[in-house]
Amino acid sequence: MITCYLAPMEGITTYIYRNAYHRCFGGINRYFTPFIASKKMNSREINEILPEHNEGMTVVPQILTNRAEEFLQIAEQIAAFGYRTVNLNLGCPSGTVTARKRGAGFLGVPEQLDEFLYTIFEKSPLKISIKTRIGISSEEEWDRLLTIYRKYPIEELIIHPRLQQEQYKGTPHKSAYKKAQDVLRIPLCYNGDIHSPDAFAALVSDFPNVSRIMLGRGILKNPYLVHRLRGDMDTGPDKDTIKAFHDELFARYAEAMSGETPVLYKMKDLWTYLSQSFTNPEKYLKKIRKANTFADYKAAVGSLLREQELLEKQIDAT
Ligand SMILES: Cc1cc2nc3c(=O)[nH]c(=O)nc-3n(C[C@H](O)[C@H](O)[C@H](O)COP(=O)(O)O)c2cc1C
Repeated sequence: MITCYLAPMEGITTYIYRNAYHRCFGGINRYFTPFIASKKMNSREINEILPEHNEGMTVVPQILTNRAEEFLQIAEQIAAFGYRTVNLNLGCPSGTVTARKRGAGFLGVPEQLDEFLYTIFEKSPLKISIKTRIGISSEEEWDRLLTIYRKYPIEELIIHPRLQQEQYKGTPHKSAYKKAQDVLRIPLCYNGDIHSPDAFAALVSDFPNVSRIMLGRGILKNPYLVHRLRGDMDTGPDKDTIKAFHDELFARYAEAMSGETPVLYKMKDLWTYLSQSFTNPEKYLKKIRKANTFADYKAAVGSLLREQELLEKQIDAT
């Protein structure tokens, strides 16, 4: 059976999201926290890794830095909470991160990256997995990066085969994933645009031995995606479960945040994706986005849940 990970998504796949998802849907083998970027962890970052916030799940904390010393200091703190593995973010494409040569920006200075990896692999108290893009502006950069990755005992390499400059646009470069398969002898995980059973079928057709995938926006849009890919639909689809998932998220965010506005902000972010699970979502999404109070918000969500059906239901009916 294919091993499935939930991608780290800053601001979205928080510990609150992961817990609600795990309880309502399950099926994910490993969860990744959004990145931790400073050795002086703030309360949001600590909340992500506290063991009591991650019970019953396999969770890998993610670090974003280009300074070996800082990586090791953060890793020490993570190790103290009992984790075994940490993930290094070499994929974040956002301008503010890459301008400081962090995330995917680190791929543009391969010599420095190599030195950094040498130090952290020598001294880290934890095993290290890496989540990477394939370069900054040209697929040709990938060869050099693969030569570097070959040198280190990376626990697993999660490849989102896009360039930093592509952000989230265009089609993933599957040829780059193929090259990694040919060259590396470490476990690989494919990530990027597996948003439907068809996209998964195409991946398996290109790479029949693919055994690990990481799912991000596909799960946000359709929480049943992991079950659908495995052909294991005992667990759904049904609106009651989606409602239970939503209600738990809403209640936990309302407990954890002060005031209605930040909670509504979080929930609106979620609906940008989750509304795509429903038939005719546009006018409901507009109402959800317009809501400035919990009462308006609940009314908008209530009418979507009452009046529309899950698209997955239609797949089952065909
Ligand atoms: C809103 C958002 C936040 C993200 N935050 C992170 C992050 O904190 N760390 C990371 O490695 N990738 C992050 N990513 C990238 C995803 O983990 C994933 O690599 C990307 O979305 C491609 O996979 P998908 O097509 O399955 O979504 C983020 C993506 C999105 C859309």
